[in-house]
Amino acid sequence: METEIFSVDNHMDNIVSYQQAVDILKKGGVVAFPTETVYGLGALATDEQAVQRIFEAKGRPSDNPLIVHIGTKEEVDKYAVDIPEVANKLMEACWPGPLTLVFHKRAGVIAENVTPGFQTVGIRMPDHPVALRLLKELGAPLAAPSANRSGKPSPTEANHVYADLQGRIPLIVDGGRTGVGVESTVLDMTTVPPTILRPGGMTREMIESIIGPVNAESKTPGEEAPRAPGMKYAHYAPESPLFVIELDESIISEAIAILHADGKKVAVIGPDEFVPAEADWYFPIGPIHDQNAMAANLYHAIRQCDQTDADIILATETDLGGVGEAVMNRLNKAADGKRFSL
Ligand code: TXA
Ligand code: MG
Repeated sequence: METEIFSVDNHMDNIVSYQQAVDILKKGGVVAFPTETVYGLGALATDEQAVQRIFEAKGRPSDNPLIVHIGTKEEVDKYAVDIPEVANKLMEACWPGPLTLVFHKRAGVIAENVTPGFQTVGIRMPDHPVALRLLKELGAPLAAPSANRSGKPSPTEANHVYADLQGRIPLIVDGGRTGVGVESTVLDMTTVPPTILRPGGMTREMIESIIGPVNAESKTPGEEAPRAPGMKYAHYAPESPLFVIELDESIISEAIAILHADGKKVAVIGPDEFVPAEADWYFPIGPIHDQNAMAANLYHAIRQCDQTDADIILATETDLGGVGEAVMNRLNKAADGKRFSL
């Protein structure tokens, strides 16, 4: 299969590109498209065979439920039941935006394999003009996970999608780089109070300012399986081992010296201000303490590390406020919990 890339531009009428995407989707095919968080790989959420193609293209475990993307807030009632009042407040304040809400699902509407074995469904309205236009032209909900091969970092550019899924999908709608850069926050609305199953682009502070305190999924090892199954898989893993390291220029320099003495080549992901001369590769991900920039650039930097022949990757940590919680969650997953200490 040839993979086509169509660039769409907000200032132009791209009706032909959208029409091609809609035609493929209506026939049960998959299309990659930009959202404000990361690129998604979409298929008609009501068509079981179409949804099956997502799992095949990604190599995704079939027990991991997909998020349903909708183009208007009103649609949520078609796919979910028992929507609590606090959810209405969140939808009012945060949609469109990087917040996925998990509800009890309405029986018999969304294809079974979107939420395999689950009585719930995760729904979000993406805040991206291309995604919203596509949903509007299609007039139907899209099941869409991130458009990476399973286990790779989520794509924040069309060419990341191409690198992973070339030859496996017919079309990528290219809307440029995504803005947020980490995936949506997944919030379970079936618990009281609601539970954050995955930290993401919508910050805990923002959510709590609207509905008060929320729970966080327990991270104690050995406890029951996470309720967002996606969180249990090795994710975002670069090809070389990645270690989280303190945000301190001299500690990084020392670490590089130790690794060099051991014959290792080192790639470093860190703030714009550091750029240690000794690093074999340095990938800056924005001004120091700018967590939004860090979120926006992290996956691209991890992919850049994969293009080097570094033996080891060091990535600087950030504090947990704001989107920092999501950034550290992804970094710790990429590191598989490893920290470099002197
Ligand atoms: O920002 C995003 O959320 C992106 C864009 C494309 O929308 N999508 C995304 O999808 O990250 P995916 O499939 O890579 O991650 C979805 C996460 C997984 O951890 C999955 O387990 C969880 O959401 N999830 C989906 N539906 C769920 C449900 N009904 N109950 C619990 N967790 C659910
Ligand atoms: Mg994903």
